Parts: sequence; C-alpha cells; structure tokens
Amino acid sequence: MFPTASLTALLILAVSVVAKPIVVRDSFVTLPFAKQLNITGALDLVHKDQARAQALRTHGSAKADARVQGLSANTAVTSVGVTNVATVYVASVGVGSPATSYSLLIDTGSSNTWLGATKAYVKTSTSTKTSDSVSVRYGSGSFSGTEYTDTVTLGSGLTITNQSIGVASRSSGFTGFDGILGIGPTDLTLKTLSPDATSLIPTVTDNLASQGTIPTDLVAVSFEPTTSTSVTNGELTFGGTDASKFTGSVTYIGLTGTTPASEYWGIDQSISYGSGTTILSSTAGIVDTGTTLILIATDAFTRYKTATGAVLDNTTGLLRITSAQYSNLKSLFFTTGSTTFELTANAQLWPRSLNSYIGGSSSNIYLVVNDLGSPSGEGLDFINGYTFLERFYSVFDTTNKRVGFATTSFTTATSN
Ligand SMILES: *[C@@H]1O[C@H](CO)[C@@H](O)[C@H](O)[C@H]1NC(C)=O
Ligand SMILES: *[C@@H]1O[C@H](CO)[C@@H](O)[C@H](O)[C@H]1NC(C)=O
Ligand SMILES: *[C@@H]1O[C@H](CO)[C@@H](O)[C@H](O)[C@H]1NC(C)=O
Repeated sequence: MFPTASLTALLILAVSVVAKPIVVRDSFVTLPFAKQLNITGALDLVHKDQARAQALRTHGSAKADARVQGLSANTAVTSVGVTNVATVYVASVGVGSPATSYSLLIDTGSSNTWLGATKAYVKTSTSTKTSDSVSVRYGSGSFSGTEYTDTVTLGSGLTITNQSIGVASRSSGFTGFDGILGIGPTDLTLKTLSPDATSLIPTVTDNLASQGTIPTDLVAVSFEPTTSTSVTNGELTFGGTDASKFTGSVTYIGLTGTTPASEYWGIDQSISYGSGTTILSSTAGIVDTGTTLILIATDAFTRYKTATGAVLDNTTGLLRITSAQYSNLKSLFFTTGSTTFELTANAQLWPRSLNSYIGGSSSNIYLVVNDLGSPSGEGLDFINGYTFLERFYSVFDTTNKRVGFATTSFTTATSN
C-alpha cells in the first residue's frame, strides 16, 4: 500500500500555484486562483472522477425532472461531487465592507456561492439577511444556512454589490476551505432557496454582467499542462477572453439540448482515433474543470482500449501502454459542429513525472482517457475534463448560450 499522508503533502507542494495579482485588462477581469491535485493514494484519481461523473449525472437528471414535473413537485435534488475532487481550485474572495477574505472553491459544476464552512461570516453594514434559507447537497457533503446579500470583492478592488451569499449554519464534508464560488449555469440554483424555491440566484458572473462591470456574462479558463514539480499557471477571466492565452481564434459551440448534459456546460461532440476509427458517435456530454481525466462512456472506452492496445493498470486505475505502443499512439479527434480539435498522443498521457503521485511506477506510461462508468446513450456520455482543458483554452458563455475552445501554445506540447 501507499504512504498516503506523505504522498498528499508532496503532491500539494508540488503543484500549488502562487496566486498572481488581479489584472483588469480593458473589459474583463482576471481572478487568480490556486490549484492543487488532491490525490490521496492509489486508484483515488479514477475513483474521484467517476464519483463526480455519477453525481453530475444523477443531479442533472433530478434537476431536469424537477423542471418537467413543475416546481411544486417535491423532487429531491441531490449531489454534485464538488468536494471530493482530484483537481481543486481555490480563490480568495472578499465579502462585506470592509471585506473579510474567504477561501472559496471554484466550481463550474454548481452555481451557489456560500461560505462559513470553516471561517465564520463577518457581518458589516453591507450584509443584508433575506427571508430565505438556502441549502445544497453535494456528492460528498452539504451545507444549509441563511441567505444574505452582500458586497463581494474579487481580487483587489473589483466589487459586486447585492450578491446572494449562503451563510452556512451547518455544513459537512468541507475541510481546508470556507465555501464555494459556484460558476456553473444559473439554473442549477433552482430550488436551493426556501420558501422562495422558484427564484434563481444570479452567480457572481451574472451580477458582474448585470451591474455593467463586464460586457458579457461569460467566464474563460486558461490552464497549462502540469509538468514536474514546477509552478503551474491557471487564469480565470470574467467577461472576455485573454488573447495572450490562446492561438488563432475561439470556436464557439451551441449548448446541447440533451439532458442531463444540458444542465451543465453541455455540448454535442464525436470522438475518433487516428485515421477514422470511431470511438464515440456524436452525442451529448459536458465540459468540466472539476473532472481531472477525459471520461468517455464504457463502450467508447472499450473501443479506445482496443485501438491503443492499452491494458487497465489495477494499481492506478488508468490505462497503461508500452513504449512501443506509445510510438504508434495516434491522435484523438474531438469533433463538434464543423470543427475538430486534435488531442495529440503526448496529450493523452498522464505526465510521467507525476506517475508516483498516483501510485504508478515512474517507468510506466499511463493514459488520461478513462471510463465514465455508464454506457453511451444516457445523455451525458463524456466529460472533457482538466486534461483536455490544459490543451485547449475554454470559454463558458451564458449570454450567447455556448462554449468555446481555442488551441494554445500548449496544445501540441510534448511535456508529458
Ligand atoms: C481531498 O480529498 C479528501 C478525500 O479524498 C477530502 O476529504 C478533502 O476534503 C479533499 N481536500 C480538498 C482541499 O478538497
Ligand atoms: C438583489 O439581488 C436579488 C437576487 O439575488 C434581487 O432579487 C434583488 O432585486 C436585488 N436588489 C437590488 C436592490 O438590486
Ligand atoms: C493486479 O493484477 C495482477 C495481475 O493481473 C494481480 O496479480 C494482482 O492481484 C492485482 N492486484 C489487485 C490489487 O487487484
């Protein structure tokens, strides 16, 4: 077995990011954040990703059903796997005036913003209690408490007034941060308030846009491949894209209408391998920063395994290939609309310098494409996770109901 405690400590040291100061460039706003890989032993990476996938599917279906059945239906709304994730992003967010800073987990798979898990809410003259209580259950935790509106500060000096904040009186499953900054689609907040269950809660992105601070209600994400133990840079921009972080132009894709993918940042996409081997026919899935791997439906995963000749490594839970198979490994092509994004052979590898962090052997070659844990045809058949997004700049555009991708200077990097 693994020395899990020392492994965790090493890992967090290895890939923590030093937050950059906030930059306001023309019309958009950059929020610095720290990224950590939170993997606590063998198989943990795959288990966490699959648990999150399962939670997103279940939660998305429950939300879609709630909409169909009408708001009076007493539909239990369950589970988004936000706390038990392998790639964790934490930003420092100020609340109140003068502001108190809270470490909030950034999540594209949920949309409530709340605090109080570890640090108590400090009320100031800008804090206003509403008549609602608020509660959300996540895959591995929950919170409930009171809704306030307050002034929220992102970085140094960028303020949002009248932001709804959940103030936890009870929370479970949260250690190491004070709450969540939810930047998923606004509809995910449906039925989280009580008694005002029909109201949606504007996210920080929505309020930045409605208060005229940013021109468009969107968030863009830049990641760079994680290599060795050096500093990794990530950048979240509100209101616009940062042209210094991508090459060419952004291709936009309309959101899917298929549930449950449509509850999240969902798109339709097909995947092929090499010169025309179909891995996944065009189907709905999601783009998610909180999933580390690229997860595809079980039948597609089996086809990928056959095409690459990989075997399932039972220590890490990842597919493993030999050096000879790596020499022959072909690109994976992700096609959406009329645009194809090529994920190179190197981009399909788990960074070899981080093999030991996931319980692997440093001389092995592991792949980042893994099993979603359900067959295709269920309305959420893939997740383009962090290992995809570190190769393609991504844009989550609420105003125009679309997701965008662009190539970057890291798309064809051979850093793994
Ligand atoms: C890391 O994962 C463990 C479970 O494996 C969880 O208890 C802990 O809260 C996570 N830490 C963070 C910062 O997400
Ligand atoms: C404050 O925000 C809430 C929604 O969170 C909205 O219902 C209310 O009208 C807003 N109040 C003002 C003064 O803008
Ligand atoms: C992993 O696979 C090997 C060979 O297939 C087997 O001997 C071993 O018991 C397996 N280990 C676990 C933990 O399943």
